Amino acid sequence: MREPPIAYNVARMDPDDDDAPTSAWVGGRDRETVTEMFHRFAEVECRIIASPLYEAIALGVAGDAEMVELAAETRVTQPPPNLLFAAVQYLLLSGPQHRLHDYYPNLTAEPEPATESYGAFRDFVLAHAGEVRELLTTRSVQTNVVRRSICLLPAFALVAERGGGQPLAQVEVGASAGLNLLWERFHYEYGSVAWGSGESMVVLPTDRRGTGALPPLADSLSSGWSAGVDLNPVDITDADAVQWLLALVWPENVVLRQQLSAAIELARVWPPRVVAGDASALLPGLLEEAPAGMTLCVFATHTLYQFPRGALRTLLESMQTFSEKRPVYFISMEGTGDEHSELTLTTYERGERETVKLANCHPHGHWLEWLQC
Ligand SMILES: C[S@@+](CC[C@H](N)C(=O)[O-])C[C@H]1O[C@@H](n2cnc3c(N)ncnc32)[C@H](O)[C@@H]1O
Repeated sequence: MREPPIAYNVARMDPDDDDAPTSAWVGGRDRETVTEMFHRFAEVECRIIASPLYEAIALGVAGDAEMVELAAETRVTQPPPNLLFAAVQYLLLSGPQHRLHDYYPNLTAEPEPATESYGAFRDFVLAHAGEVRELLTTRSVQTNVVRRSICLLPAFALVAERGGGQPLAQVEVGASAGLNLLWERFHYEYGSVAWGSGESMVVLPTDRRGTGALPPLADSLSSGWSAGVDLNPVDITDADAVQWLLALVWPENVVLRQQLSAAIELARVWPPRVVAGDASALLPGLLEEAPAGMTLCVFATHTLYQFPRGALRTLLESMQTFSEKRPVYFISMEGTGDEHSELTLTTYERGERETVKLANCHPHGHWLEWLQC
């Protein structure tokens, strides 16, 4: 069975719908399934993200029983292709000299052709099989994609406007390292429209698609209070954790790596608050903590698909219940099972909820098609 690309869309899941899917990755680790995962990774995800290197290697792995056997050791909650590639890049970044370096565009100025890379990849993995196995069985695919903030910003502007222009009180569900909580410190470029300090180290451009007008991006848009929550917050003061975060960035994603490194630098100066734990249990307490006089805005990007269905239902219901006290605006960006992601806004007010789709976008924010104001 082929897996869905990147993630299911669960953003608009009805809490009463028991058939709604959740995790995209939980599944068997029989050899046939793992082979299929590498095929799908090459044919779908590598084309979305534009990675000729991983596409060539993933096709090589799919046709190599010994590599599939190794990749199948990944825990069932983790995607074998992403984890195998991250493990190898993590080891390459740690320094062992090997001809595989010559194929990585981020490690060499003039990379060898991607289509010829599989032999070197195989050789490297077999030479470091013990370390690769250790990483496959202990690490997780846990990224923090800073460019997703470019999709969130117009949604924040819309929520702030609906809240009467007050500062936002924000909770990010699945915040990872919490880098997107620093969104006010980034510079955004939507073609001719820009927002944020032109001196920011984190510059986020996107291509506009469609004809929908963005909501006005007021200079006064701000977050007055924020907190993230994550099962496993990434500690950016831990050099090894940062190295793993960078190893998860695909080799061709030079800009994404630069944005990530710059955001990590910002986080060292302005550390975001990220609470460790299950958001479905901790969200009610964080909503209680949010100061009065601000507009309550919860957001999540490429996270809900990792929740077991029951936990997801609890999370969504907790916002609905809390909205008896004050309105909660929930912005969600999740995969659709297609090549794009969807941005939705759910307004919880007086125990009622209403969801609207705001935009289609690239999973990493390379383009944005705003649909409505
Ligand atoms: C794919 S990452 C996305 C991280 C970040 N939102 C981004 O877009 O870069 C999903 C994150 O959700 C977190 N997560 C998954 N289930 C969670 C839960 N029940 N409670 C809190 N965090 C959770 C994971 O630990 C991980 O950091």
